[in-house]
Amino acid sequence: MKEQLEGLLQAALKDVDATTSEEALQELRIKYLGKKGALTSIMKGLGSLSVEERPLIGQLANTIKDRLEARIDDALTHAREIKKRERLERERLDVTLPGRRLPRGTRHPITLVIDEVSEIFAGLGFQVAEGPEVELDFYNFEALNFPKDHPARDMQDTFFVDDSVLLRTHTSPVQVRTMLKHTPPVRIISPGTVYRCDSDATHSPMFHQIEGFMVDKGVTFGDLKGILTTFVTQYFGTDIGVRLRPSFFPFTEPSAEVDIACVMCRGKGCRVCKQSGWLEVLGAGMIDPEVYRHVGYDPEAVSGFAFGMGIERIAMLKYGIGDMRLLFDNDLRFLSQFRGECG
Ligand code: DAH
Repeated sequence: MKEQLEGLLQAALKDVDATTSEEALQELRIKYLGKKGALTSIMKGLGSLSVEERPLIGQLANTIKDRLEARIDDALTHAREIKKRERLERERLDVTLPGRRLPRGTRHPITLVIDEVSEIFAGLGFQVAEGPEVELDFYNFEALNFPKDHPARDMQDTFFVDDSVLLRTHTSPVQVRTMLKHTPPVRIISPGTVYRCDSDATHSPMFHQIEGFMVDKGVTFGDLKGILTTFVTQYFGTDIGVRLRPSFFPFTEPSAEVDIACVMCRGKGCRVCKQSGWLEVLGAGMIDPEVYRHVGYDPEAVSGFAFGMGIERIAMLKYGIGDMRLLFDNDLRFLSQFRGECG
């Protein structure tokens, strides 16, 4: 039996030396030292030995078992070490490499203009208010002194939902909604989307406006001129000329159209300003007493002005955009040129 045990030890050590994988080493352990392994089966013959021999062989078997265990454990540690080294090699990271930047979106030029204009007016004490895009005839027309069948309604090619509901054709209804809710003094700026049944190279059925108005005791046309001149010079530059021309809107009296000196040619005359040197950027005027009657303000006690501008036009002038359709094509080559990252 002693030879058998020594033979087993030699064979097992040889096997262990020839094995490098963790799994195969575990199998060797079972094969030689497991419950049904080679060592156990040799030890089954222990009963046939003499009483003197038994403890000697028993001791030898234990020594062999311990040696084999220790050798397998060493081999396992070695195998795990090699495996770990291989994995670290495979998953090697260069922590000194610069991080990869995720591309971030930019703000749409329309949003940019809304934010820039709102900020200037916020500095002049105006608050932002919003109104619904699906609007009642009352707010869009009636209360703004466009009675039914008034010819001025034709100026605004309206999308009607039914007789009394429509897509707002301008942001002016926010004036009515605000004045019905708040008593003077009010100073409001209201950006938003508007709709008109009109579509060609220079008109889109969906576009944007910014409305502004102010009502208080003793507000004059001089205040209107002062506020709008301040806005134009802050936004387009201090050297830009501003002029007011008489105009007509049903909800303002008197009414004016505000021109700025052409931002392309600085007033010399070019294709953009059609050689006139001027560009129309705003409609404005003193709020008509008829509007105050609809919202319950006393036209004898308060006065105020209102103005409205098209955001697409302002964006085109501010950023030198030649074709309005670029604003709606969503071409990233165009959009990504604008500053003002999102988020
Ligand atoms: N709502 C007018 C339009 O869409 C623009 C406008 C003109 C607004 C004069 C005003 C204003 O508040 O006073 O054509």
